[in-house]
Amino acid sequence: MGRLEDKVAVITGAARGIGKATASLFAKEGARVAVIDILEREGSETVKQINKIVGENRALFIKADVSEEYYVKNMVNVVIKEFGKIDILVNNAAIQPVGTILDTDVETWDKVMKVNLRSAFLCCKYVVPFMIENRSGSIVNVASILGLRGGERIVAYATSKAGLIGFTKSLAEDLMQYNIRVNAVAPRAIDTEMFRFYRSEEEIKKRIGRYLFGRLGKPEEVAYTILFLASDEASYITGEVVVVGGYW
Ligand SMILES: NC(=O)c1ccc[n+]([C@@H]2O[C@H](COP(=O)([O-])OP(=O)(O)OC[C@H]3O[C@@H](n4cnc5c(N)ncnc54)[C@H](O)[C@@H]3O)[C@@H](O)[C@H]2O)c1
Repeated sequence: MGRLEDKVAVITGAARGIGKATASLFAKEGARVAVIDILEREGSETVKQINKIVGENRALFIKADVSEEYYVKNMVNVVIKEFGKIDILVNNAAIQPVGTILDTDVETWDKVMKVNLRSAFLCCKYVVPFMIENRSGSIVNVASILGLRGGERIVAYATSKAGLIGFTKSLAEDLMQYNIRVNAVAPRAIDTEMFRFYRSEEEIKKRIGRYLFGRLGKPEEVAYTILFLASDEASYITGEVVVVGGYW
């Protein structure tokens, strides 16, 4: 029996990277998963791969920009229609433009807040009523180590992730009475397209000694942490932030 047997999970930004690893792992552990992303080709491919391994109709791709209310509402309606309930929500979709206060323009700042923070607010807003109905639910927000301690040339992203941590803790307080848990993971340096996009191979090699175990983390290593928090194994944990990758 899987660790998520009979559960339905919604995972945003699941076409690739950490979200994809999480969707695959959840499906292997018995969940039906809704893969949400703006990337249609990658999202459909992810679902195809999952269904090939665990069986038809275990995974569903829904194209949605989770920073927009209209798409989130629609996405939640589709999941309820297809799967009947939502037990787990993983708010994982994000973007990571680099910049200090001097070279971050207002449009970039607003976009980062919209995609990284408003999206989690919107997904929770439309998913939580269904969790309340079932008096059960688990939400995992994918924050970042940068949201805990800040970082160089990444002011908008780090601020959005700090906001997500505050959101996690506040929501945990409000939703405890309904038996809904809300936690966050804060990964450090994980080998995905997002991490590699602004960094050259040379820069990564130079920095690698500063990372835990002298290497980048794997998306699966974050996925296993999300799995634990999402599952009933973490039934007495809420409002927590789990760092994946060391914090020193
Ligand atoms: N990779 C790292 O080192 C690292 C470290 C700390 C935190 N994180 C966090 O982990 C999460 C996953 O990141 P990743 O490294 O897998 O990056 P990624 O870029 O590979 O994946 C992010 C996914 O989010 C999707 N997305 C972006 N905007 C969206 C929107 N508006 N609506 C729907 N989907 C959207 C993208 O299309 C992409 O598939 C993010 O929240 C990121 O901030 C990553």
